[in-house]
Amino acid sequence: MIPTWVQLGYLLAAACFIIALKGLSGPGTARRGNLIGAFGAALACVIVFFERDLDHQLPILAAIAVGSAAGVVGAQRVQMTQMPQLVALFNGVGGAAAALVAGLELSELVEAAELAGGGLGDVPEFDLAATAFTILVGAVSFSGSLVTFAKLQELMTTRPVTFPGLPVAFGGSIIAAGALSVLLVLEPATWAGVVIGVLGLALGVLLVLPVGGADVPIVISLLNAFTGLAVAAGGYVLGNTLLLVAGTLVGASGTLLTRLMAAAMGRSLANTLFGALKGGSTLGGGEVSDRPVRSAGPTDVAILLGYAQRVIVVPGYGLAVAQAQHTLRELVDVLGERGVQVDYAIHPVAGRMPGHMNVLLAEAQVPYEQLKEMDEINDEFKRTDVVLVVGANDVVNPAARSSPGAPIYGMPILHADQAEQVIFMKRSMRPGFAGIENELLFDGRTTLLFGDAKENMSKLLNAVKSL
Ligand code: TAP
Repeated sequence: MIPTWVQLGYLLAAACFIIALKGLSGPGTARRGNLIGAFGAALACVIVFFERDLDHQLPILAAIAVGSAAGVVGAQRVQMTQMPQLVALFNGVGGAAAALVAGLELSELVEAAELAGGGLGDVPEFDLAATAFTILVGAVSFSGSLVTFAKLQELMTTRPVTFPGLPVAFGGSIIAAGALSVLLVLEPATWAGVVIGVLGLALGVLLVLPVGGADVPIVISLLNAFTGLAVAAGGYVLGNTLLLVAGTLVGASGTLLTRLMAAAMGRSLANTLFGALKGGSTLGGGEVSDRPVRSAGPTDVAILLGYAQRVIVVPGYGLAVAQAQHTLRELVDVLGERGVQVDYAIHPVAGRMPGHMNVLLAEAQVPYEQLKEMDEINDEFKRTDVVLVVGANDVVNPAARSSPGAPIYGMPILHADQAEQVIFMKRSMRPGFAGIENELLFDGRTTLLFGDAKENMSKLLNAVKSL
C-alpha cells in the first residue's frame, strides 16, 4: 500500500509537469514553466528516497551527482544552435534509463522465480509485454538519439545513409523483436530481454540512418515521443503512477510536435523517415554553384535599406550562428527612426528547432509585435521594397513551390521572391541545411552581401547611421 503522503507528493509532481508544459507553450512563461517542471522532477526523486528503504544509497547519490553535474555543465555550455543535439542526448539517456530499469526488473522477477523453484505464475502477462515494450522502445530511442546527435554535430555525414539490405534488416529486426517479445511473455527469461534490447539498438540506428539533413530535428522529436512511451510503459511495469503520467505527457507532446514540424515542412512523417529508401534523397547534393551573382558592399546595401519605405527582415540559422541578433535589432531601430517600416518574417522551421527565431530575437529585445508569422506576412512581400535575408536560405527557396523533385518541395516558404529587391547576407554560395541551390540568389533583383553576418551587420549599421 502506497502511503497517502507519497501519493499526494506524486500528485503534486504530476501537476507540476502539466503546469510546466502549459508554461513552455509561450516564450513569456517558458522559463517559469521549465523551473516548475524541474521542481516536480526533483520532488519525485526526493519522495523515492524517503518512501523506500533503498539499498545502495551512496552509489545512487553519487550517480545523481555525476548526472546532475554533467547536465548542468552541458546545458550551460551549449550554444543555442546546438540545442537539438543536446535534446537528442538527454532524450537518448532517458530511453536508455527506461530500458535498463525494465531489464533489471525482468531479471529480478526471473531470479525470484528461480529461487522459489517455480514459474512466474502470478505475474500478469500484460506486465511482461509492457516490460518487453519498454526495453525495445527505450533501446531504439537511445541508439537512434545517438545517431541523430552524430549527424547534427557533423561527427558523421548529415546526408541520408542507405544500403541495399537496409529495408530487409529493418523489417527482419522488427519481426525478430516481436517474436522474442511474445516468447518473453510466454516463457520469461533474462536473455530474451537482452536480445530484445540489442535488436532495439539496431533498429534505432537503422531508423535514423536514412534520414537526412533537414529532417533530423523531426526525428529527434519522434524519438522523444518514443522515450515518453517507454517511460510510461516502465511506469506501468514498476506500478509507479507518476512515471506513467510523465511518460504519457512526453509521449503525447513529442507526437504533437513531430506532426507540427512535419506539417511545417510540408512532409508526411512516412516520407521523412522512409523517403530516402524509395530512391529519392531527402537531401540535395550540396554542391556550390559558380554561376554569376550580383554582390555589393555594406554602403550600397545601406542605401537600399535607408531609402526604402517598407522592409522585411527574414532571419535564419546563420543569424543565430553569427550571434548578430543584437546588432540587427539596432539596425531595425535606426531604420525605424528614419521612417522605414520594418517587420521580421518568422518561418516556423527557420533555424534548427521550433521557435528558434522567436527566442533569438526575444533575447535581443525585439518587440513582439514586430515578429510576424509566415501566414500573417506572406501577402506583404509583394508590397515590400527590400527583403533583408540574414543567414537564411531554405525558408525563402522558391524551389519549394516550383521544383517537384526538390527535397524541400511542398514546404511552405516565405514569399521573399515577390519583393522589389532582395538582399542576402551570407558568407558564401554554399546551400542551406537542405543542401540544394537557391535560384533566388541568382535573380536579377537579388544582391548578396558576403561575409559573417555579425561583422557585416555592424558595418551596415554604421553605414545606415551615416546616410
Ligand atoms: P538554412 O537554409 O540552413 O540557411 C542558413 C544560411 O545561413 C546558410 O545559407 C549559410 O550560408 C548562412 N550562414 C551560416 N553561418 C553564417 C554566418 N556566420 N554569417 C552569415 N551567414 C551564415 O537556414 P534556414 O533558412 O533558417 O532554414 C532552416 C533549415 O532547417 C530548413 O532546411 C529547415 O527545414 C531545417 N529544419 C528546421 C527545423 C526547425 S523546427 N527549425 C526543423 C527541421 C528542419 P553560408 O554558409 O554561405 O554562410
